[in-house]
Amino acid sequence: MPDDFEDRAREALAQPKNVGEMNDADRVGTVGSPDCGDMLRMWLKFTEKDGKKVIDRASFQAFGCQTAIAVASMATELLKGKTPEEARELKPNELSGELGPLPPMKIHCGQLVEQALKSALDGTEAPSKPPVETLAGKLQSASSGKIKIVPLDENSND
Ligand code: FES
Repeated sequence: MPDDFEDRAREALAQPKNVGEMNDADRVGTVGSPDCGDMLRMWLKFTEKDGKKVIDRASFQAFGCQTAIAVASMATELLKGKTPEEARELKPNELSGELGPLPPMKIHCGQLVEQALKSALDGTEAPSKPPVETLAGKLQSASSGKIKIVPLDENSND
């Protein structure tokens, strides 16, 4: 891993993990930052392990800065196997995983991921069946099509 945070984030962005809608999710949560206008949606799928409910998989879609995407990629990996209670305790600097501590200017990007996770854990939105409105659709309807949306490559989801 590179020494510099920006380089590590760039490396994570080159191959983001767990990008895209999860059709069999148990929970989904969406948040937006009023400060920068970025949005993040996270899906969670639970399973049972040793009699405990744990996160089996997590995925995300983001319309946000590169740091938010890099942190969400790291977070969705390290959430696997965590109980909802353990996941709820994770702070932005922990969710960033191998990226390391977030620079002060980027803390709110990690907080966007933290809030999306909490929103999903709280089940503030219905599971994705019937399909929830896509983040792209939500943004486009809010902006009357004035925002250009570039979808993430879902093929890089491994
Ligand atoms: Fe908005 Fe990073 S600048 S989440």
